[in-house]
Amino acid sequence: MMFAYWIVSALVFASTGHCYHLPGGGKIWALLVAGSSGYDNYRHQADVCHAYQILHENDIPDENIIVMMYDDIAYNEENPRQGVIINRPHGHDVYRGVPKDYTGDDVNSTNFLKILTGDEDGMSGIGSGRVLKSGPNDHVFVNFVDHGAPGLVAFPNDELYANDLEAALQKMVNNSQFAKLVLFVEACESGSMFENILPDYENIFVMTAADPHESSYACYYDETLSTYLGDVFSVKWMEDVEEQDISNESLHHLFEEVRYETNTSHVEEYGDLDLGALHVSKFLGDRSEDSLKTNRTPVSIEDAVPSHHVPLAILQRKLEAATDPDVKEELKFKIHKMLKLRRQIENTMKFILHSLFDEDQIRVQSIMDAKHSLTPENFGCYRKLATHFSDRCYKFSENPYALRQLYILKNLCVEGAVTEVEVMTEMDQICANMHAHVRIV
Ligand SMILES: *[C@@H]1O[C@H](CO)[C@@H](O)[C@H](O)[C@H]1NC(C)=O
Ligand SMILES: *[C@@H]1O[C@H](CO)[C@@H](O)[C@H](O)[C@H]1NC(C)=O
Ligand SMILES: *[C@@H]1O[C@H](CO)[C@@H](O)[C@H](O)[C@H]1NC(C)=O
Ligand SMILES: *[C@@H]1O[C@H](CO)[C@@H](O)[C@H](O)[C@H]1NC(C)=O
Repeated sequence: MMFAYWIVSALVFASTGHCYHLPGGGKIWALLVAGSSGYDNYRHQADVCHAYQILHENDIPDENIIVMMYDDIAYNEENPRQGVIINRPHGHDVYRGVPKDYTGDDVNSTNFLKILTGDEDGMSGIGSGRVLKSGPNDHVFVNFVDHGAPGLVAFPNDELYANDLEAALQKMVNNSQFAKLVLFVEACESGSMFENILPDYENIFVMTAADPHESSYACYYDETLSTYLGDVFSVKWMEDVEEQDISNESLHHLFEEVRYETNTSHVEEYGDLDLGALHVSKFLGDRSEDSLKTNRTPVSIEDAVPSHHVPLAILQRKLEAATDPDVKEELKFKIHKMLKLRRQIENTMKFILHSLFDEDQIRVQSIMDAKHSLTPENFGCYRKLATHFSDRCYKFSENPYALRQLYILKNLCVEGAVTEVEVMTEMDQICANMHAHVRIV
């Protein structure tokens, strides 16, 4: 009798053992987004699947979690472990059970903004149709993992610009869609999505993988899977959350830990930093008290590479491991082609600058070296030039390396020595000629 009572109470405790309590009966809602596709970008979807598993283990019900991912990794023909995705060396499968609200081409910036702002009508008939239905007492957690550039983050076929994200957040504030919102962003130059752009709104706290001027880093190359399994910032925050008692760890402490551990880029925080005093469990939930924290040996990261270097690094790793002369030859050729395209992209931007500044080498160099910051005043110019560069020269979704050149367009807009029209005219001329002479691969 006594024995049965204990079993029953243990079961009741396990099923209702949330360790987070939000004022006013608020709930946690989460939106998890991987904005890339392709096997080289395995790590982005791995990070997002892992984030889902953390929320799931922390008792956040699936009906409060929305996942956007292209979903071309688990069953990718290049994946030797079909149906499985891992996020650390010898890690367990993080793919199983992940809800597939939006996959394939439904993973785009328009849908993302509609889901975020709770636009149910706008999403009807697309994917699961689910949107954030959070209210004034709820906490919202958003995790975005992807490629980025100054003032933008990429989606598989398009881009999300910082001013549109900012407008969506403003709309959420206006519509009382949350009590507090926490956003973690893994992308190159992710700080530039918020610096000078996100006002210090009450109740929005942002942590980014990188400052406005630098790459974020991939890590955990797996010889068998021939790809990188994670990104430094993402795996660091998730491994920390799995090891700490997050019902007693503040967001600020998490930030400090992750900033210290991520030695490849500068992890930054933006928005309402007062939220840093809240416990992490208020956004990620927490495991029932009776379940044990994972206590794994930390894997030290010695193979981090800048995100944009990944496709090349993968080919180089494959070349090192190859023994068959034909395979080696083919890999060498692929590396050669990739390097050539990269040089061509860099040269295109240099031609544009040289032409704009009448071959004045010193001015060209100073534009290329500057580290200006975007502001609401020059954002419109920057967005116009970046979009034009993607339309006329190198479509970003097909040539992610072109994102690495965008800081130059940002510098042109901030300095304002040449007009938008002049820059766009140069792009038209130089890129039209380029397409005529060089076959782009
Ligand atoms: C995003 O996808 C929806 C369909 O899911 C489509 O209607 C919309 O045009 C797409 N937007 C972009 C920018 O590709
Ligand atoms: C939010 O409300 C403010 C003040 O009422 C208004 O100026 C702004 O246009 C609104 N923004 C959006 C995106 O709804
Ligand atoms: C929570 O953390 C504080 C400071 O780190 C510590 O002093 C306290 O003992 C912790 N409480 C629990 C219940 O673990
Ligand atoms: C970062 O730390 C790791 C050890 O954890 C070390 O191997 C690596 O060289 C460090 N990277 C940088 C850029 O300092």
